[in-house]
Amino acid sequence: MSVVTPEIEMVPASWTRRHLLGLEDLTAGELNLILDTATAFKRETAGCTQKIAKLAGVTMANLFFENSTRTRTSFSLAARRLGADTVDFASSSSSMSKGETVVDTARNIEAMGVNVMVVRHRTPGTPHLLAKSLDCSVINAGDGPHEHPTQGLLDIMTIRESRGDLRGLTVALVGDIAFSRTARSNIWGLKKLGANVILCGPSTLVSKQWEQFGVEVSYHLDEILPRCDVLNLLRIQFERQTTRPFPSVREYASLYAMNAERLKRAKNDVLILAPGPINRGVEVTPDVADGPHSVILDQVTNGLAVRMAVLWLISGKPMRDDG
Ligand code: CP
Repeated sequence: MSVVTPEIEMVPASWTRRHLLGLEDLTAGELNLILDTATAFKRETAGCTQKIAKLAGVTMANLFFENSTRTRTSFSLAARRLGADTVDFASSSSSMSKGETVVDTARNIEAMGVNVMVVRHRTPGTPHLLAKSLDCSVINAGDGPHEHPTQGLLDIMTIRESRGDLRGLTVALVGDIAFSRTARSNIWGLKKLGANVILCGPSTLVSKQWEQFGVEVSYHLDEILPRCDVLNLLRIQFERQTTRPFPSVREYASLYAMNAERLKRAKNDVLILAPGPINRGVEVTPDVADGPHSVILDQVTNGLAVRMAVLWLISGKPMRDDG
């Protein structure tokens, strides 16, 4: 398949990163470059599953120590669409059960000629540790409650696709801010691109400390709802919590679930996002999740384009080598 889009002919010299560990230390220029590249890949591959052999000879390994549906599948598809080889590592059936460490495991996989490692782990900082310990590139696919950069990017791409410029938009992240890596990546990315961010949820899950980063904190969804252009509904991460942050799921849903009644009080063109997996009836009711305001499956589609862009920028042929 021939590529006609100039943005994805050569990795621009302005991109100098070997890893993608989070959005916190990326500049607005770098964020926009990834988003523009993803948009170009989406346009180039629309309605087509043919490969663009831009990463032929590159091998990507998925190292997932936590479960995943969307992220693992889309990284694999993204790598294959770019002509790279892929390998999947399953921690449950690995030799880690015999005492091998994460670093030794990754070093052994790297020794088989892997160029890019996509890492998900429940412990924050694991991808950063591997980036220091390995020669290959590392992409953070979610480190505990810390960051999930490609999720943040695909959320922002989906908003940008619908609204164009992020500047001046009001985006509310609703739900479990304390344990959500998606929340952190969204906060850093959205703020850098000029959006107003509101964090909303029970006080046990939303810290006032976030205000020091220029973010608004609210405990009342019904109060902020009429001001929001976008609602990103985050799952309650029960698996990371040691104590229940609210008395019952029913009580949580009565205060924070996006439902048809609340939708009537939101802006006419409000955009409903959710990173997935969604718990229907907890953070969002099925009629809203599947309704006309929802872009939940567009997020998943954009995840493929974002991951193609990140793999390409990190592993593609740089423009500076061409001169
Ligand atoms: N949103 C997200 O990261 O989904 P998975 O856990 O299925 O990868």
